[in-house]
This record gives sequence, structure tokens and C-alpha cells, in this order.
Amino acid sequence: MNVNSLRKLGNPNTLIDFSSNDYLGFSKNKQIYLAASEILKRHNLEVNGATGSRLLSGNHSIYTETEKIITSFHNNDAALIFNSGYDANIGFFSSVPQRGDVILYDELCHASIRDGITMSNAKGYKFKHNDLDDLSKLVNKKMNNSLPLGEMSAGQSGSFTPDQNIYVVTESVFSMDGDQPDLKAMVELCNKYHCHLIVDEAHALGVFGKKGEGLIQALGLEKEVFARIITFGKALGCHGAAILGSADLKGYLVNFARSFIYTTGLPPHSVATIQAAYQELNSNDRSRIDLKSNIAILHKEICKQDLGTFFITSKSAIQSCVIAGNARVKEISEAIKENGFDAKPILSPTVPEGQERLRICLHSYNTIVEIENLVLHLGTFIKKV
Ligand SMILES: Cc1ncc(COP(=O)(O)O)c(C=O)c1O
Repeated sequence: MNVNSLRKLGNPNTLIDFSSNDYLGFSKNKQIYLAASEILKRHNLEVNGATGSRLLSGNHSIYTETEKIITSFHNNDAALIFNSGYDANIGFFSSVPQRGDVILYDELCHASIRDGITMSNAKGYKFKHNDLDDLSKLVNKKMNNSLPLGEMSAGQSGSFTPDQNIYVVTESVFSMDGDQPDLKAMVELCNKYHCHLIVDEAHALGVFGKKGEGLIQALGLEKEVFARIITFGKALGCHGAAILGSADLKGYLVNFARSFIYTTGLPPHSVATIQAAYQELNSNDRSRIDLKSNIAILHKEICKQDLGTFFITSKSAIQSCVIAGNARVKEISEAIKENGFDAKPILSPTVPEGQERLRICLHSYNTIVEIENLVLHLGTFIKKV
């Protein structure tokens, strides 16, 4: 391993936060904290843990109630809570696509999606990032049986048959680039070729949509996707995840997703916090409005400092400044840190070589002065180092 990319655990710091996923400040929101206690009281739950898998002793009433709230908020048929986004993705991809099916995924999809695909009996192929032409070429190849085939089970023929499924996978906000695919065009393509579209909304939940429902709902596409993965550890400031889809999909996952079946359920207070975070999304738009305003301020400052060519175009809370080379991006991140700002360097191999970057995460609670100073320092160091 390259010495410049060796990972180490850091210590908590008091720097200005431009690195956490707490986009709306919900992790420290007192209202949510108090509301979660009220929800636990209402359920008469004075407990510390779930006591078992949800299929055994761990399925407290609070799970069912919270899944109903999530289902209604996201305007779909069913929701299944998982212990984390990582678990949701490996659970889905290792169990839903079957041998002979094909999974076409964006090359920048999160590690949890790629790990799930590796565990699947279906064969995965990546398409170029946000490139619908490349995706459509792959779909056509599969339809014409000219994709190199995955392992075949006994008796399976090599040709594409109507009972074989094509799954297309993307994220509505990419975790390292902060950018978005053309979801409407993707839906059209998937409808045309009868592909199942799966969208990971980890970084869109809380940020996009009238109440923070995510990008799929902001675009009115909730009935067009096969499944959505939402995670609660980012803008919702707590922990856990859910898969949104049909009631049949939920029933299937309860029976076959091993990361759901063979693990202790989330503690009830985690589930109460998820529910309280949804109450906050429903009742208070302030944090999302402040976040949007901070994104606009950052864009203005980037223009002022003439740094536009360094930044990947993004409307989300994730704004990446590409600074090629592990050593250089680390150096700039250190210089930024010495001036009081916490913005993390993202190194290769997490991103491709030459695409190393300083990843700036914006929040509702960053001040205008903090954003102005961050960009000012960044401009100085980029031009100097
Ligand atoms: C796109 C995406 N999906 C899934 C996950 C995993 O979510 P969790 O942190 O809840 O395991 C992440 C986390 O970084 C992510 O960025």
C-alpha cells in the first residue's frame, strides 16, 4: 500500500465542520433528542437493546410504526429498516438479483453496492459515470446476448430470455463527487428495456424534495423505480437505513436478505430517533433552507476566487475540489486544518488516481463567514502549494 494512502483513525476535533455527513445538524438537534424520548415513553419502552434479530425477539412495535411513517413520507408501498446503509445494500444485492440476471451499475457506486454485487449470483458490469450512452450500449449488448456471461447454473442456456432481469443501479447524489445522474432519462431507458432501476438516496434524503424526501420524489419518479435505498446516518443525523419498494419486495427481503435476518435489530432508541428525525423533516424546513443557501454562497465564493475549474459541478451538500496527487491534496488539507477548517482529503484508491480531492461537506449550521474564509484559504493554498 502506498504510504500516502495508509488509513488511520483520527481524533475528535473542534475544527469548523466541513467534513461530516450531518448536513442538517440533526445529530445535535435537541428537539429530535427530546421527541425520541417521548416516542419511547409512548411505546412503554424502557429498554437498551432489541434483544435479538427482528425475526426472533427483536421486532418491537416501534419498528412497524416507524416503517409505516417512512412509507407514507416516501409515497411508496413498503419500507424495511436495516441496521445500516451498508447492510441494506449488501442485503439487497446479494439476494434479489438471481443467477443469469445482470446488474449494470455506475462505476462510482458506493463500496456497499459493489460488495453486495460481488456477493450476488448475478453478474455485474459497470457503466461509465452518469453516462447513459454507455449504459444503453450495455443494455443492448445484454439484449443481444453479446455481454460476456456470468457463471451459468446447470441447464441454463447462454442466451437472454424474458425471465432474466436487468437491474440498473445508481445513486441520486454520488458520495465522492456530489453530482447526480439524469434520473428522468434513466427511468425512460429502464422502462423502454424493462430494466429494474435501483437508486441509492443516501446523500439526497433530507436535502432534496419539498420536505427532504430525496431526489426521486423531487422529480416525481417514486412509482418508476424498483427500489430506493435511504440511509439515516447522513442528513437525518442518526443511524440505520431502509429499503423502499413494493410489499412483495419487503416480504422477499425479510426472507432472503441475510444482513437483515442474521443480526440483532437496531436498539429501539435508534428507531425512535429515526422517527423523531422524520417528524422534524415534516414540521421544520429551516435547516434545509439554510443548507441550500450555504450551497449557493459556496458557489458564489468559488466564482469570486476563480476556482471553478477545480470543482466538480454539484447542487448537493457535497462539493469536491479536485487536487491531483495524494501528497498534494493531503498537504492542502493540512494547511486548511491549521487555519481551523475540517475538510477531508479523499485519496486514491478511494477515488481514481489523478482525481484526488478535498471533499467539502456543507451544513445548515456553517456560517457565511466560515464559508468565505474556507474558500479564501483554499484559493491561496491551491495557487501557492
Ligand atoms: C451512497 C452510500 N450508500 C450507502 C452508504 C452506507 O450507509 P451507512 O453509513 O448507513 O452504512 C453510504 C455511506 O457512506 C453511502 O455514501
